[in-house]
Amino acid sequence: MNISILFVDDDNDVIDGYKRMLFSMKKEWSMHFALSGEEALRIMSTAKIDVIISDMKMPVMDGTELLRQVKDLYPHILRIILSGHQDQVKIVRSTILAHQFLLKPCNANQIKNVIKNAYSLRDNLENQKLLSIINGIGQLPSLPELYVEIEELMDTPDYSLERMMQIISKDPAITAKILQTVNSAFFGLPRRITDLLEALSFLGANTIKSIILYLHSFSMKNVPSIARDYCSEIAKKSLLTAQIAREIGNIETSDKQILDDIYVSGILHDIGKLILLQIPEYFDKMNYMINIKKMKDIDTEMQILDISHEWAGAYLMGIWALPKTVVEAIAFHHNPSKINHTDFSILTALHIANGFAEYQAEPFDRKKIDIDLNYLANFKLKGNFEKWENIAHKYNLIKNEQENPSY
Ligand SMILES: [Fe+2]
Repeated sequence: MNISILFVDDDNDVIDGYKRMLFSMKKEWSMHFALSGEEALRIMSTAKIDVIISDMKMPVMDGTELLRQVKDLYPHILRIILSGHQDQVKIVRSTILAHQFLLKPCNANQIKNVIKNAYSLRDNLENQKLLSIINGIGQLPSLPELYVEIEELMDTPDYSLERMMQIISKDPAITAKILQTVNSAFFGLPRRITDLLEALSFLGANTIKSIILYLHSFSMKNVPSIARDYCSEIAKKSLLTAQIAREIGNIETSDKQILDDIYVSGILHDIGKLILLQIPEYFDKMNYMINIKKMKDIDTEMQILDISHEWAGAYLMGIWALPKTVVEAIAFHHNPSKINHTDFSILTALHIANGFAEYQAEPFDRKKIDIDLNYLANFKLKGNFEKWENIAHKYNLIKNEQENPSY
């Protein structure tokens, strides 16, 4: 697929640097270059642009003003800020003007990675219906500032849990919510944790990072009030799915990165529903089809919108630059057969955990769980299903408790 990228910088040498550095991408990308915000807007009015990468400090129209106009005029364009100063990045981040940030100096690989991650699975996501719906919504949630700050800290040599605690503690509201969440029955902790540092050492920095994403995603700022309960249910099910998925992962792998990615996939797998909730008729129709007609959510979405929450969520995760395997797992969590593989993956854990977490009927009946049997039939690990099922039994007991962490 050809991605069209517009680079904006008032320094001619920087623009020449882009041209040299990214010459090898000529076949995959069509690249446009502008020396000012005004020129960039002119180009966008005539050419189809998918991504804009802009400098911050420019005379007359600076990067902030340019991106503000791009956000209003062309909300579907992926906005990336390239800045020489960390402080400038912080200011823009707080205004949600950019989807991604790059610090100067950056090399060709960093630029390629940011764009490739944002556009991973774009071939599949290049569904005109999905794009027109997302363009219609106009405003996609951005990554929380605290999350990005923690990621940056974890990349530095002086990273420690104490430093992480100091950063999170600056926000007492989120600290309280983190503690409330980790003390919910989902985590099954042996005793109550009252201290953030203890939570960090007990659950690990990556789990806490995922919980921050969870609390941000389900803060329900853009959710219509009529859909709040529905949204709470999604939040609760997401946490349950993440826990079950990670336990399934624990059986199959000891790779820490994969286990962390499984967890974050579980936390965010249904986030596409929150995006679709911004479509006015979505909630009413879903409510009717699921509760009255007893249809599955994914089938209902295909019937009423011709796109699913899997793809809406995967699209957002691509923009948030989550790992490709996480984006892929979210994109296929109801239909894993669409991907060709027979080994355990993040998608396997997520698909199975999602089936278990959604399972409502009593008594437990394996045949009624919403799991893709074609997918498992070719699977090297299908003998492990019983072990996975034992995890579901454990968590189904938790699900039936009146436990509901607040978001
Ligand atoms: Fe789902």
